[in-house]
Amino acid sequence: MTTNNKFPNLSNRDAPLEMHGEEFRELGHQLIEDIAEFLDDLPQRPVTTNESFLKIRQLLGNDNLPERGTSAKELFAEVTNQLFDHSLFNGHPRFWGYITSSAAPIGVLADLLASALNQNVGAAILSPIASEIEAQTIRWVADLIGYPRTCGGLLVSGGNMANFVCFLAARKIKADSDFNEEGLSTSNRPLVAYVSRETHTWIDKAAELFGLGAKHVRWIETDSDQKMDMEALEIQIKSDLSDNYLPFLVVGSAGTVSTGAIDPLPTIATICKKYNLWFHVDGAYGAPAAGLADAPEHLLGLVQADSLALDPHKWLYSPLEAGCALVREQQHLIETFSHHPTYYNFDGTKEDPPINYLDFGLQNSRGFRALKVWLGLRQVGREGYLQMIGDDIALARHLHIEVGRYPELQEATQNLSITTFRFIPQSLNKESATAEDYLNKLNEELVNRLQKSGEVFISNAVIGGKYLLRACIVNFRTTSSDVEALPEIVLRYGKELDAEIRPEALRSD
Ligand SMILES: Cc1ncc(COP(=O)(O)O)c(C=O)c1O
Repeated sequence: MTTNNKFPNLSNRDAPLEMHGEEFRELGHQLIEDIAEFLDDLPQRPVTTNESFLKIRQLLGNDNLPERGTSAKELFAEVTNQLFDHSLFNGHPRFWGYITSSAAPIGVLADLLASALNQNVGAAILSPIASEIEAQTIRWVADLIGYPRTCGGLLVSGGNMANFVCFLAARKIKADSDFNEEGLSTSNRPLVAYVSRETHTWIDKAAELFGLGAKHVRWIETDSDQKMDMEALEIQIKSDLSDNYLPFLVVGSAGTVSTGAIDPLPTIATICKKYNLWFHVDGAYGAPAAGLADAPEHLLGLVQADSLALDPHKWLYSPLEAGCALVREQQHLIETFSHHPTYYNFDGTKEDPPINYLDFGLQNSRGFRALKVWLGLRQVGREGYLQMIGDDIALARHLHIEVGRYPELQEATQNLSITTFRFIPQSLNKESATAEDYLNKLNEELVNRLQKSGEVFISNAVIGGKYLLRACIVNFRTTSSDVEALPEIVLRYGKELDAEIRPEALRSD
């Protein structure tokens, strides 16, 4: 603290965090070397280490906030390897869990460049070229999937946030009184939203957090292919209208999180028009497949949506985090999110209007997420993306066929690049009343073992009460020999586990 108007001499300020060119260059070169080697070695590494979270916590050592610093060189020498040795690698060719992709190396470099520039892409004046790159990225993402390129949109952190942006726009536009002024509590016609039973859990958060209320989400039944039942949807809408509810939104999934099922999007669009509802498509995972020449017919209905969520950090292989919200009428985003406080001088002129992304979404200050998505699109173009997406789908189908060759594996579903199946040991007494319960327990524990094995990483789906093993391939590093290896790995772990846990009563031999 300064006293007596005596100030420290800061004419040659030596800020502790500053790093001058030479040091930055030396550390940067080494880091790039280490990352390049890591990427080359990735297939030889285990997908993950089977260590407890406790052990990893302990690895970090002394838990006190450091009073004094450590040189950046020492830190990188320690931390780079620590991270390589104790992480799960979603960039590994045999990672097929959840819906997390391998990250495109160009995106890794883009993130470094974006951080170095540190643009605040909330206002165009703070990020002149970055804002334009984001706008171009939005147009290109729309072009890739056949959505109108005149739409509004922005990049957000992921699928949840992209769906939230669209949900909020739908609520703003379709509500019958000005909710932003009065709040939800004054309405005597509660808003209701329609989703299928297979919709991702973002809708639970949205309903609770944005004032809709969980009980105003109508979970419409699905058919035997996990698609929303259109008859049930229309019956529910009619019943809500006659009970004085205000239906406002139908969410169609373009690739459900569990099995990749695609709702009948064209029919949902027709129903939405008939009842004046907002049609939102959750394409966080599956939307990019709409660009394929042989895209499933139902998927193409996404072009009619009022809004759409798509995750570049899923099937466009951008490093985390990158989600994208598209809204057909850009004005709807502005009406939902834009404010003009006096302390922001961002309006520009009519002749040269800026794109201020703080007017389009929930965030104020925002990073330059678009760079990694934009550079990926430029590096390989539409052609490159469609090739990788098509190959992922082909590999998932290949896996489905491979699974069918093994009597102890039972195929379940195959949609887009998600394949599900389960392990049924041959000598199991399938007639027993407890056989299905046992199979669920066995397959659940099998997923746990496989996830810890480091040989492969898959996740699960529960369909019709059956616990299934689930491989989701959004991974440009996966090859056919990787998927061909999976059945044998599953059988090896499955048989070992079955021998340990099967009750005597379920033995048929
Ligand atoms: C269909 C769907 N919607 C939304 C999400 C949420 O996306 P994120 O995890 O990027 O928030 C997911 C995630 O897997 C998803 O599959």
